[in-house]
Amino acid sequence: MLRLIILIVCCVFYQVDCQSVAQQCLTEQIRNNAGNTRQLAIQQSPETTTLNAFRSICSNFDSYIRCFQSRLPGSIDSTDRFLTLMFDYRAMWTAYRGLCSDLNVLATRIRCLLSTPEVRRCYDIFNQGVTQVVNLQSQSRLDEYGLRNLACNVSVQRYQCETQVYSFCDAQAGEIMQSFFYAGVPPTCRDYTGTYSRYTHMYGSGEITSISNLLFTLPIFLIISKWL
Ligand SMILES: *[C@@H]1O[C@H](CO)[C@@H](O)[C@H](O)[C@H]1NC(C)=O
Repeated sequence: MLRLIILIVCCVFYQVDCQSVAQQCLTEQIRNNAGNTRQLAIQQSPETTTLNAFRSICSNFDSYIRCFQSRLPGSIDSTDRFLTLMFDYRAMWTAYRGLCSDLNVLATRIRCLLSTPEVRRCYDIFNQGVTQVVNLQSQSRLDEYGLRNLACNVSVQRYQCETQVYSFCDAQAGEIMQSFFYAGVPPTCRDYTGTYSRYTHMYGSGEITSISNLLFTLPIFLIISKWL
């Protein structure tokens, strides 16, 4: 009882995270966008729960990403501090834009995304990496640049591991999740690890791409204008 009161006091008055930002944002997203009033009525299969979570996110993925954007900086949770190093609004937007456009394809293969011992092994390795990064950060033993590169490696290692598991279940499920994961990392991380996402090419005409396009077209324009 006392623990419960302390928890509530912490949540309400000190805005300390009682859950990680990822949990908070997903819970609120499902609550706000369930669109299905029978959600709570019956116990659902893991497949239905997973698919409904994706559908809630996709019904308004921009608000879901903004939830991360606004809350991550203030969070003291260790997973959140790791996520802050990897968070890129534009990249995450592109990742969900792609995933949500493929949700109907993914829906027929949703059993492939359920938790298995193989996926949990990927998470265990990932969690060790997260702990390592957060420890290095709190001991100031690595600068921001080094931390971001390490967090990038740790994330990409998890995505490779997970993609392998999903691909083994179904090739297309694996491809969709791979495109989703690699679109969601910052562009610098994609370059650093030599990873590629179909979604980035389809939907990722963000700031970085338009700047590089501008830098590319500017010399051509200058050359042409000299001829005129
Ligand atoms: C990330 O992985 C690459 C390739 O394995 C390695 O060369 C690099 O040193 C790693 N970077 C960090 C910061 O661990």
